[in-house]
Amino acid sequence: MNLHDKEKQFLLQTYKRLPIEIDHADGVYIYDKEGRRYLDFLGGIAVNALGYNNSRVKSAIMAQVDRYMHMSNMFYMDAQIDLAEMLCNLSGYSKVFLTNSGTEAIEGAIKVARKWGSKEKKAKLFALSNSFHGRTFGALSLTDRPKYRQGFEPFLPNVDHIAFNSVDELRKKIDGSTTAVFIEFVQGEGGVNLVTEEFVRELFSLKRKHKFLVVADEIQTGIYRTGKLFSFEHYGVHPDLVTVAKPIGGGLPLGGILVDSSLEQVLEYGTHGTTFGGNPVSCAAGLATLKELTEKHIDQHVTEMGNYFRQRLVEFKSRHENLVSEVRGFGLMVGVEFRTECGEIVSRLMNNGILANCTNGNVVRLLPPLIIEREHIDIFVEVLEKAVQSTITDSQMKERSLQN
Ligand SMILES: Cc1ncc(COP(=O)(O)O)c(C=O)c1O
Repeated sequence: MNLHDKEKQFLLQTYKRLPIEIDHADGVYIYDKEGRRYLDFLGGIAVNALGYNNSRVKSAIMAQVDRYMHMSNMFYMDAQIDLAEMLCNLSGYSKVFLTNSGTEAIEGAIKVARKWGSKEKKAKLFALSNSFHGRTFGALSLTDRPKYRQGFEPFLPNVDHIAFNSVDELRKKIDGSTTAVFIEFVQGEGGVNLVTEEFVRELFSLKRKHKFLVVADEIQTGIYRTGKLFSFEHYGVHPDLVTVAKPIGGGLPLGGILVDSSLEQVLEYGTHGTTFGGNPVSCAAGLATLKELTEKHIDQHVTEMGNYFRQRLVEFKSRHENLVSEVRGFGLMVGVEFRTECGEIVSRLMNNGILANCTNGNVVRLLPPLIIEREHIDIFVEVLEKAVQSTITDSQMKERSLQN
């Protein structure tokens, strides 16, 4: 039985898989079993910040595997504590709770917010329209994408959504009963949408007035993806809590919640926990990843590559105004919005050796490993050009055959 049929037989069919059987990956390239090479602009959906096969991360994993792989959170584990120290030192946040995943980090942040709110006699949580915060029940209650929510109602009570970037709705909905606002400063799944400066300014001005928490969901945007440690730094603000995951485990499952010193005491002994969260092997991988990223001054590299990438894409847009409506993003989180569905373009990119993703129907979302260079960006733009040329030809042919 081939892999495709076996997957169909034994796994719940919740994922639409790409028709590639991967053999191995190295640097910014993925190789299939037939020896074809793909340039990766997907990065394991923003996980593989250092690309593949990084020797420092692999050595750190092997060294930890040799010592122990699991011990339980009843013990002091140096990998975990060292990673937390580095996260605190880099970010300025005072303490960390480590989880297995992004959605688990959001669940923990909801618990911190609700416990804090119960003392302040507040109960209301908000997120923004079109947001994505994960698929467990708390996170799904905050998520505002109908395709992920339908059929799973009812959700958490006291959760509401504010229209993305609507200052008016923000002013109308936020009041003294607000406990927390969860926000992706750049929406990922929602189509690489940037929150406006005006919206952020108003959010933090209301925060001063009504005393609620701002929770930054940096699960996709965090750890230098946008050229800064966290995307909220582009706005010069300081949220109370930050959720991280994806790249923080260097390819292994890991997430976390960073809290400001004012919230350190909210969760006490026994009020929250996890068996696998902060697994020492994941933490060793995460620590090696963070060291490698910071020693490489990846923030500067991402900013430089991101600027070059967007410049090349804006030029591409000017050649194809009829096809492309916008190029947006920060650093190496880039969205190219097409005027029509982009599934076909992404398939053509794949057939020409480039992996990318289509999100929100018409946005090609680009999340390459942070180590990509100009030459890779040039290849991408060249192949994209080819992909739209053949798409144009195909649709013209289809039109012609319809006319005949
Ligand atoms: C912004 C954001 N929040 C939360 C999540 C959920 O993370 P996980 O899939 O690790 O549960 C994701 C995943 O894509 C995300 O992009």
